[in-house]
Amino acid sequence: MKEAFDYRAVESQHYMPVFSRTIKLVRGEGAKVWDDTGKQYIDCVAGIAVCSTGHCHPEVVKAICDQCRTLIHCSNLYYVPHQSELVERLASLTGMPRIFLTNSGTEAMEAALKLARITTGRKRFVAFTHGFHGRTMGALAVTHKPPIREPFDPLQPECAFVEYGDLKGLRKVVNRETAGVVVEPIQGEAGVIIPPDGFLEGVRECCDRNGTLMIADEIQTGMGRTGRWLTLQHTGVEADIVTLAKGIASGFPMGALLSREGITFKKGEHGSTFGGGPVACAAALATLQVIERILPDVERKGALFRKGLADHNPRVMGLMIGLAAGDRCPTIQAYCADKGVLINCAADGNLRLVPPLVISDEEIRKAVEVLNEAFG
Ligand SMILES: Cc1ncc(COP(=O)(O)O)c(C=O)c1O
Repeated sequence: MKEAFDYRAVESQHYMPVFSRTIKLVRGEGAKVWDDTGKQYIDCVAGIAVCSTGHCHPEVVKAICDQCRTLIHCSNLYYVPHQSELVERLASLTGMPRIFLTNSGTEAMEAALKLARITTGRKRFVAFTHGFHGRTMGALAVTHKPPIREPFDPLQPECAFVEYGDLKGLRKVVNRETAGVVVEPIQGEAGVIIPPDGFLEGVRECCDRNGTLMIADEIQTGMGRTGRWLTLQHTGVEADIVTLAKGIASGFPMGALLSREGITFKKGEHGSTFGGGPVACAAALATLQVIERILPDVERKGALFRKGLADHNPRVMGLMIGLAAGDRCPTIQAYCADKGVLINCAADGNLRLVPPLVISDEEIRKAVEVLNEAFG
């Protein structure tokens, strides 16, 4: 009899040990996933806020397969199928008319930092404590978390960090040498930290006073996650530059850099071999169509989580849910997985739930029931 392939042993030998994982997922449909033993889970992780339309949404699958049969890649040396429809749609949904497409969030952040430098002629940035913007060198330089940033110091660009929510502190460090202030409208990797009222307006005002660009990292909060296309759209604030990724193409790798009129790369200042390829654009266009239909229901679903988890003071905005659990995070996560609900430990003793936007009321009720049991 053929022996089962021992993927754990092979992985421990050959895959760099940067992740710690126990479950192997092999199939998904809507908000449900199955592991290699056939066990079913309600997926409140969704590939970390990526599988926005649910796993394998038929319209997204069809768009990807149709495009794969026609043209998988052609290079940005040529007009790319679906790219123009996609950027037109993104511009109209976000109000940001200039767009460049990437393969990931961190690449979108790299592009944002380059764009802010070349637009302002300045070199320095300001970002916030507990913020996360990616792991490539530039994005890492504006990412706060010391254990992931400090081993790679010194990094460029130069970045000062201010306590998230502290406008007084921000006003002290932003000056006429600051190219950009990088801000998440809600901090995702930190565990769904919602800033105080007026904070984003204050960041905008501080940027305006200093001729500094406001760079909103909506990689996790955008694409309908909180009930609007951009979380900034809950406020009246308009950023100069916005980055997107994660939910934009339902799990097909894609990111986007968006900017307001007058802020743009010129020929030769930026580029990408794979960014904005035909299959990614097809996946993203189909994703936008699906999200457009389900967007009106996102805040109502978030309210079901808020009500169901009320005993644990959840932080909820649309389908971004954070819960403080301290050092109980890993135990609660393991209990939920055992009972068939996937949630994730974010930073600083916070649990995070970012389920597919298509999660049903019944699935929410079940996830809430299991979480409440896990808290005990
Ligand atoms: C707010 C934010 N910015 C940037 C990134 C980096 O995106 P990626 O992992 O696609 O490079 C992430 C990823 O978690 C994120 O949450």
